[in-house]
Amino acid sequence: MAFNFEAFLSKVDPSQKYKYQSLTGGLVNLTVRATKLSPFVDGSIFPKHDTLILKYAPPFVAMIGEAAPFSQDRQLMEARALAQFTSPQGPLSDLGRPSSVSVPELLYHSPEEHVLVFQDLGPLLTLYEYLAAIPNETTFTSISAQEACPKIGSRIGEFFARLHSPNSLEQVSIWMSGDVQNPLGKDLVLQAAVMTIKDYLTRFNIPGVHSLSSRVLTDYQRDDLPMERCFALGDFTPGAVLLAVSDGDQPLGIIDWEFSGVGRGPNGDMPQFLASLHLLLLAASPHSPRQSAINLLIQGVCSAYRQHSSKWLPQPHLKLPTGLSVTQRDPEVPSESLQVFRSALILHGRELINNAVEREWPDSPQKESSVLIQEIVRKGAWYIERAGDDIEEMLDATNVEQLLQEDSRIMLRLFGIEN
Ligand SMILES: Nc1ncnc2c1ncn2[C@@H]1O[C@H](COP(=O)(O)OP(=O)(O)OP(=O)(O)O)[C@@H](O)[C@H]1O
Ligand SMILES: [Mg+2]
Repeated sequence: MAFNFEAFLSKVDPSQKYKYQSLTGGLVNLTVRATKLSPFVDGSIFPKHDTLILKYAPPFVAMIGEAAPFSQDRQLMEARALAQFTSPQGPLSDLGRPSSVSVPELLYHSPEEHVLVFQDLGPLLTLYEYLAAIPNETTFTSISAQEACPKIGSRIGEFFARLHSPNSLEQVSIWMSGDVQNPLGKDLVLQAAVMTIKDYLTRFNIPGVHSLSSRVLTDYQRDDLPMERCFALGDFTPGAVLLAVSDGDQPLGIIDWEFSGVGRGPNGDMPQFLASLHLLLLAASPHSPRQSAINLLIQGVCSAYRQHSSKWLPQPHLKLPTGLSVTQRDPEVPSESLQVFRSALILHGRELINNAVEREWPDSPQKESSVLIQEIVRKGAWYIERAGDDIEEMLDATNVEQLLQEDSRIMLRLFGIEN
């Protein structure tokens, strides 16, 4: 499908002529970069910008077509989020400053034509592309990636801890007069990422399909706890992180805010994002520079998120008394943080399974017979098993013992559980 961006922009900014470049990477919308041909000509309504990003939202998923209708209201959600990061009035316009993370500023929105114009963060890579460019052969080294990844991870972790803080939600709620909901995602995620699990577990012969898939459904459909309500990106994947190839201090931005709104953070955005990275970690060659870089990136994200969220997210204690016989709940620890942790395990598992089955694996046309995909699906199921049917079951001594053996300690580290 196509959209005439030139006809649109010549009406909005008639004093300027632009050239257009299609941007790949998105599935849902059509996105281009418009570059001014004569930036010194006066009269532009975007005087500070020589380049712009334009995004058109058709009434369906752009890559699929009319067979996949999708409300154009998704663009209102993205415009609303970008406006919050746009100075001087946007309540979150300083949020990314301490971690040097940018969110594109909103420059213009036409709800009638379903076009959004926003700040160009530059010709950057997505985090997927960045990681794919790190050598996956053990014979190579990549010192620069090893140095950059802890810093990149740390900046992402800090940004999201600040985004998910009660303070950010309060500021956004005031600014939006309380209407922070995003009505678009709920059913879509239910169909595309929750109801899928039963079938995927069955296809991979995972025991306990019924109980595992109903845990996923129940956790998704339950009402949010007051503690877990936060302003969330809503669909956090490595495709939402843009960055340059450099030493860790490079430009870094977060894009694609269509699913943003009040949602879940430590048990939403974070386990989802970390599941994509966990999958890439498992798929990387052992002892390769890529594997080590992804591992450092994950550690950076988790440690910084923990550090910057500790004020509002008490550490859940999986108390394992000496003798490993009885697990007692520490009465000091609010059970809400244990619930958030449990919910994070479920989401991390769910997203490992979805990503493993849905991703294109060029070497594995028969997914069910691929040892790697089987391993990732089993690992996903492991997280949902460890969550138990409730907190009591999760805190069972044998279960805690297994939980503490978590692969790469990703969820444990995110919640600051050190043992
Ligand atoms: N502000 C920006 N600065 C620079 N490049 C950008 C910017 N926003 C988007 N891009 C580029 O355009 C591509 C598509 O953008 P985006 O992922 O937001 O589109 P989308 O259609 O909403 O994606 P999805 O299908 O994942 O929802 C990105 O991968 C990136 O390369
Ligand atoms: Mg999008």
